[in-house]
Amino acid sequence: MMQILQAVRGMNDILPDAAERWEAFEEIVREWLASYGYRPIRMPLVEPTPLFARAIGEATDIVEKEMYSFVDSLNGELLTLRPEGTASCVRAVLEHDLLYGGPQRLWYAGPMFRHERPQKGRYRQFHQFGVEALGLVGPDVDAEHIVMCARLWRDLGIEGIRLEINSLGSGEERRAYREELIAYFEGNLDRLDADAKRRLYANPLRILDSKNPEMRPLVEGAPRLVEHLGEASRAHLEGVKLRLEDLGIGYTINPRLVRGLDYYNLTVFEWISDQLGAQGTVCAGGRYDGLVEQLGGRPAPACGFALGVERLLALWGAPGQGEVRPDVYLVHQGARADRRAFEIAEQLRENGVSVILHCGEASFKSQMKRADASRAMLAVIVGEDEVEAGQASVKPLREAGGQRRVAFDALADHLADYFFSGHEDEHDGGL
Ligand code: HAM
Repeated sequence: MMQILQAVRGMNDILPDAAERWEAFEEIVREWLASYGYRPIRMPLVEPTPLFARAIGEATDIVEKEMYSFVDSLNGELLTLRPEGTASCVRAVLEHDLLYGGPQRLWYAGPMFRHERPQKGRYRQFHQFGVEALGLVGPDVDAEHIVMCARLWRDLGIEGIRLEINSLGSGEERRAYREELIAYFEGNLDRLDADAKRRLYANPLRILDSKNPEMRPLVEGAPRLVEHLGEASRAHLEGVKLRLEDLGIGYTINPRLVRGLDYYNLTVFEWISDQLGAQGTVCAGGRYDGLVEQLGGRPAPACGFALGVERLLALWGAPGQGEVRPDVYLVHQGARADRRAFEIAEQLRENGVSVILHCGEASFKSQMKRADASRAMLAVIVGEDEVEAGQASVKPLREAGGQRRVAFDALADHLADYFFSGHEDEHDGGL
């Protein structure tokens, strides 16, 4: 026998039970986005490679080693499966001159691709909801993003996600800090691990994010950017903090929070759960005022964040959440019944009743088994007898109560009434 082919490692199928939860989750997220006035935008999954190199930064893990890049064999162009959405979103905004119409509040959702080592909570194809606000300069919109997240955790009923924030200051402040940091690490060269040595001149801020416990004391003792901020940067951070305090949103300042993408300045933040092990960051983002210009646009401020769908779903409620049940499984037997049932199924759907029609021939008993397995509320049965009498039999599958006959022409109304007039709950099986 031929071997069954398998999906690419780190790229998962989302099977129906899980996919129904995803859809229920996505519905909550979409409503939440609309309640803050964010509008959808959809970008391609593939972009020219230089877009990411320029936006995310050459010396980042993502660009150095995690991108799925390939040469378009038809024209030789170097392309990349998007590892994140911000670069594409800004590219699209610039390409279509959306900022001409004023500030933009946008969101997108979909798969992102990074060639990381797969583990729980870390995949090579993962999914994000991304939120970007372009053209807004003040700390109010940074705070709006953080507050939005807090509301979403409430809407989803997820507890225990904590907030860390930091300020990366202005480009100038970061450059001065970078020199100071390099000098500090140069003075401790013997204590740097190989990774840190490699990053020392390319991206010294990333050393602060080292996961190596032996590096911890060195990192703890490093100078802190948040203590070297100029007045404007300090005021911006204060503006964010005050708004969070006004709304009672708890946070900690983490001076080592630097993010893995180079486009950030001023506010950066991460939402972290301790219930997910090593991959605890469920949502992250910040301000990136330089990116629009870096991608060729007229300078415009911007900030945003993205949430990791897989990680949030791992925290969200019971497994059955979002389960979709069909209303009716339609059982039929005999040649005349077959065509009648096909027609009835459409009439019911016309009336808003969801129907799984049994397809193919099978004994009454095995059809009833399928009906049961389908999780439908009712079986509607159309056999030779029923066709003769012009009536269908209706049998509850999930609650006590006997079967009863309903005339074909009254069936759609009857079932619509049963499912939508709200007496389903108090129903005692009498249909
Ligand atoms: P990021 O921190 O790279 O930021 O990713 C955001 C979130 O995506 C993470 O906090 C995590 O929940 C999820 N995530 C990232 N990588 C993986 C993975 N390999 N497997 C599962 N989940 C993952 C960005 O992507 C920025 N574009 C966010 C942003 C938007 N900043 C400004 N605007």
